[in-house]
Amino acid sequence: MIGRLNHVAIAVRDLDAASARYRDTLGARVSAPLALPEHGVVTVFVELPNTKIELLAPLGEASPIATFLERNPDGGIHHICCEVDDIQAARDHLLSAGARVLGTGEPRIGAHGKPVLFLHPKDFCGTLLELEQA
Ligand code: CO
Repeated sequence: MIGRLNHVAIAVRDLDAASARYRDTLGARVSAPLALPEHGVVTVFVELPNTKIELLAPLGEASPIATFLERNPDGGIHHICCEVDDIQAARDHLLSAGARVLGTGEPRIGAHGKPVLFLHPKDFCGTLLELEQA
């Protein structure tokens, strides 16, 4: 069921500084910032030859990454995202296997305009796992 690694997401306090670090120090191709108010984040994508890094900064009062940054003031790996062919089928399979899907359990449109869902870190080795329909 689980497919390619789509991205690794890193939560940061200062998106401009983080973008500059990847662009200027590491020589990476870095996208313009994209605000996703419904997810409470601003994202920048760092393009690597085989995958992407998603830099995530909080947006708004109730950002889901605010508590993460309180616990990790220097930033840190927030989630990994893998692709699935059929997100509804993946969701149904995971629920029947006892895994917990965060939020309403319904896929939402993520940073790439494709449906995504998040799985509870306690069910996946302490790592927040995002699934994105390929
Ligand atoms: Co993501």
